[in-house]
Amino acid sequence: MGTYNFDQIIDRTNTNSLKYDFAVERGKENDVMPLWVADMDFATLPEITDALEERVRHKIFGYTYPKQEYQKTIINWMKTRHNYDMKPEWLVYTPGVVFAISMALRAVTKEGDAVLIQNPVYYPFTNIILENDRKLINNSLHYEVKDHRGVYTIDFDKFEDLIIKNSVKVFIFCSPHNPVGRVWTRDELTRIGEICLKHNVIIIADEIHEDFVYGEQKHIPIASINKEIEDITITCTSPSKTFNLAGLQLSNIIIANSKTRKLFKKEIDKTGFDEPNIFGITACQAAYTYGERWLEELKIYLLDNIAFVREFIDEKMPKVILTIPEGTYLVWLDFNDYGLELRELEDRIQKKAKLWLDEGIIFGKEGLGFERINIAAPRKLVEEAMNRLYEAFSDL
Ligand SMILES: Cc1ncc(COP(=O)(O)O)c(C=O)c1O
Repeated sequence: MGTYNFDQIIDRTNTNSLKYDFAVERGKENDVMPLWVADMDFATLPEITDALEERVRHKIFGYTYPKQEYQKTIINWMKTRHNYDMKPEWLVYTPGVVFAISMALRAVTKEGDAVLIQNPVYYPFTNIILENDRKLINNSLHYEVKDHRGVYTIDFDKFEDLIIKNSVKVFIFCSPHNPVGRVWTRDELTRIGEICLKHNVIIIADEIHEDFVYGEQKHIPIASINKEIEDITITCTSPSKTFNLAGLQLSNIIIANSKTRKLFKKEIDKTGFDEPNIFGITACQAAYTYGERWLEELKIYLLDNIAFVREFIDEKMPKVILTIPEGTYLVWLDFNDYGLELRELEDRIQKKAKLWLDEGIIFGKEGLGFERINIAAPRKLVEEAMNRLYEAFSDL
C-alpha cells in the first residue's frame, strides 16, 4: 500500500475542466468518457494544496515574481532528477510550453524559414509553425511492428537530408515523445545534436514529459549531452504534467546561450507578458521541494495501468497493436488491422464506445487509424474505458 490514494475518483465535471466540461463545444456527444487531453484525474500532492491554501489565506494577490528560492528548487530538480547542471540566469518563465515554443520560433527564425518536426507528434507543433508562416518539414518517425508491438525510431539519414535540402533553421524536438512514448537514448540524442550542430540548426526541446519515464529508461535532457549541444538548445520544462498543474499556467524555459536567451526574452516582451501567475510559482516550488515520493508512487500506479491495458489488449483485442510507452502516460494504439475507414473508426469510438480519445490523425497522417488514450486516471476508469472499447469492436 502506498501513501497516496490514486484509486480515488474525483468528480471533475462543472469545474470548467477542458477534459470533462467541453464535449459538446468540441463536437462530441454530451456523455462521452474523456481520456484525451494530457492532464490527470488524480489529486496533486497535499504539500502543494497546503502551500496554495496558505497563499489564498493571505488574501492579497498582487504582482509576483519568482525569487532565488524558486530558481534553486528548479536547479535542484534538474540536477537530482535529470543530472543536468544549469545556472539560475538561464531561466525564463512563460505561461506555458506551447507559448514558449511559439516565442522561441519567432525569436530565432523569420517568415518562410524551414522548421523540422517528426510526425506523429504533439499537434500544436504543426499549428505553431504554420500560424507563424514558417515552412513545415516533416521527418516522419519510422514505424514497424515487431512481435506484435509498435516500434518507433528516427531515420537519421533522412533527418540530415531534409535539413540540408531545405536549409532547416529549427528542429522542434519532443523528448520524451508524445504520442508514441519513446524515451530517446543517449546515442539517439547525440546523433540528433551532432547533425543539428553541423548544419546550424537550433533545437527547441519540448521536455514537458521528462518526469514520466519507466523501468530502465532514463530521461536525458538533450542540452546535457555536451556544451556545444547545450549552446544550440532551448529546453522547455514545466511541473504542469508531472504534478497535474496545467491550469496554473507556468513553465520554466532553460536557455544557456545568452544571445538566444536575449532574443527569446525580447519576443516575450513584445507580447506584453511580464510576471508569472502567483499560484503557479507557489505550486511549482512546493512540487519540486516535496514531490519526489508522490511522483515515484504515481509512476508505479501509471505503470500498473499501462500493464493492465497491455494485458487487456493482448487477451481481448489482439487486432490492436500497442506501442508500449517507455515514457509519458499516453498509450498509442494502432487499429489499422480492423481495416476501417477513418469515419467508421471514429464513430465506433465516439458513438458506440462513448469514448473521447485523441484521434491519431491529428498528430499527422502517420497517425491514421491510431488512437491515443490517456491512462492517467484511477484504475476503475481505465478498466471501464477498455471494456467500452472492447464492446464497440467485439463484432469485428
Ligand atoms: C509534448 C507536449 N508539450 C506541451 C504540452 C502543453 O504544454 P503547456 O500546457 O505548458 O502549453 C503538452 C500537453 O499535452 C505536451 O504533451
